[in-house]
Amino acid sequence: MSAEVIVAHAPGRVNLIGDHTDYAEGLVLPMAIDLGTTVTGRREGDRVVLASGTEPEAAIVDLDVADPAAASPAWARYVAGVVAELRPGTGLTGTVATTLPVGAGLSSSAALEVAVALALGFDGEPLALAQLAQAAEQRASGVPCGIMDQLASAAGVAGAALLIDCRSLDVTPVPLPDDVEVRVVHSGQERQLAGSEYAERRAAVEAAAARLGPLRDHDDPGVADRLDDPVLQRRARHVIAENARVRSVVRSLAAGDLDAVGAAMAASHASLRDDFEVSTPVLDALVERLVATPGVIGARLTGAGFGGCVVALTRPGALDEGWLVRPAAGASVTVGG
Ligand code: GLA
Repeated sequence: MSAEVIVAHAPGRVNLIGDHTDYAEGLVLPMAIDLGTTVTGRREGDRVVLASGTEPEAAIVDLDVADPAAASPAWARYVAGVVAELRPGTGLTGTVATTLPVGAGLSSSAALEVAVALALGFDGEPLALAQLAQAAEQRASGVPCGIMDQLASAAGVAGAALLIDCRSLDVTPVPLPDDVEVRVVHSGQERQLAGSEYAERRAAVEAAAARLGPLRDHDDPGVADRLDDPVLQRRARHVIAENARVRSVVRSLAAGDLDAVGAAMAASHASLRDDFEVSTPVLDALVERLVATPGVIGARLTGAGFGGCVVALTRPGALDEGWLVRPAAGASVTVGG
C-alpha cells in the first residue's frame, strides 16, 4: 500500500519594522504573508526527492547527508539542511510549488525549510519548528541568521503582524487596521546574503554588546557614544533605536496613529541606511519615490538589506506596483484526506 499524500504549506514573510535586531535579543514586527511554498508528497524510501515548479533540477538528498552546504543544485541545500537537523527515519518523494519570488527577501528559503520539515513529519510547537528551520538555514547557507523569518512563517496569524521578542521568543499578534494595505516592491537588485556583510554586521553588534551589555537593555541610543570605534557606535545606535521604534509602532497601531507609524518607518530606513549601512542607492531612491506617492503612509527597506525589497504601508489602492500581501496564518500540514 502506498503512503498517504502529505501537503505542507509555509508562508513567506515581510518585516514591517525591526531589522537587524533579532540576533541581538531585540524586537521585530514581521507578518506571515499570503504567498508561500507548498510541498506535496509521500513519505517513502530512504532519501528525499523533490521536483520543483520553478527550478530545473530536482533536489535529491540522502537521509544521512553529512554536509548540507555541499548539496547541489543550490536550492537542495535548504532541503538538506532540514534533513540534517530532523534526521527523519523515512524519505519523501514529491514536488515543491511556490508563489514567492525567490531571493527577493520575502523568506523563500525559510518557507521552504518550514514546509519541508512539516512534510518530513516534524511534530511540535511553532517555536521548535522555527528553531529547527533556523538551524537548517544556517547549515545550508553559512549565514548566521536570526529567528525572525522562520518564526514568522511558523507562527503567523491571519490579519495580524507579529511582535516577536527575540529574547523571550514570545509572539504577540498585533492586528493591522482594515483600511491599510501592505505592498512589497522589489528594488530590482538581487539580494545576496551568503558571503555578504550580514555576518560582519552581526559580529559588530555582538562586539558592541560585549562592551555595553545586551543592547536590548538600553533605551537611549546615545549610550553607543561610550564605544571608541565609530563603526560600532553606529551599529549599536541603530539596534537600540530600532527596538524603540518597534515598540512605538505597536503603540501607534493600537492608537490608530498611522502618521506616527509612517514616521517610524522613515526613521528606520534612515537608520538602516546611515547607521547600519545595509541600504543601497537603488533602495533609497525607491523608498523616496514611494513615500512621495499620495496615500503611502510609510516605506522602508525590509529584511537584511543589500538589495531586495521595500515594504510600504498604504491607504487602499494607493500603489499598484509590487505585491499586495495580506497577513496570513502560519505553516500547516495535512496528511491524507
Ligand atoms: C535576514 C535574517 C533575519 C534578520 C533579517 C534582518 O532576513 O534571516 O534573521 O536578521 O535579515 O532583520
